Amino acid sequence: MKKVMVGTALLTLTLVLQAQASDVSWQKDVKPVFDRQCASCHGADSPEHEVFAGDKKGFTGKGVGMRMDTYNHLITHVGWPYNGALMRRLDDGSGKADKKAGNMYEHLGANENERQANLALFKDWVGNWNLKRGKDVSKEELSSLKVKY
Ligand code: HEC
Repeated sequence: MKKVMVGTALLTLTLVLQAQASDVSWQKDVKPVFDRQCASCHGADSPEHEVFAGDKKGFTGKGVGMRMDTYNHLITHVGWPYNGALMRRLDDGSGKADKKAGNMYEHLGANENERQANLALFKDWVGNWNLKRGKDVSKEELSSLKVKY
């Protein structure tokens, strides 16, 4: 009987944790982190991606990134058309052979604990974190992205 109860408690805990992970939303969880860590360079005053692309060196030189501050802007860097850019730039590199982190990873926090916590949040939000580019991403992989609003 005791074993069953422990088992039930563990199962409940697992389900609660899973529910929390899949409940991560842009509005509630991602946006506050984005506003703190990313908006100074990717905010409403930043150029649209295509404008940015027209003068990448110029903008980068001034420390200005492309606009990403709305839900609709941000998801273009998760799915289409900038397939997986968000994942490749934010990844800590731990799963890669060269262990090299993406160049936006450093902006996730002031210290390693904060960066890892915020990376975990972005990962939960994206749902299917992989570092593949464009045509290497399958239809199944694209459709298993979560990116809840
Ligand atoms: C200090 C300024 C700055 C901060 C802060 C910053 N970025 Fe960036 N980001 C840039 C610049 C400049 C570029 C373009 C140059 C490059 O590709 O590295 C860029 C490029 C990117 C790209 C590549 C998009 C593409 O399609 O090529 C992504 C994704 C990104 N940033 C996400 C983020 C996220 C998420 C955060 C917050 C955790 C963040 N950045 C914080 C300046 C910044």
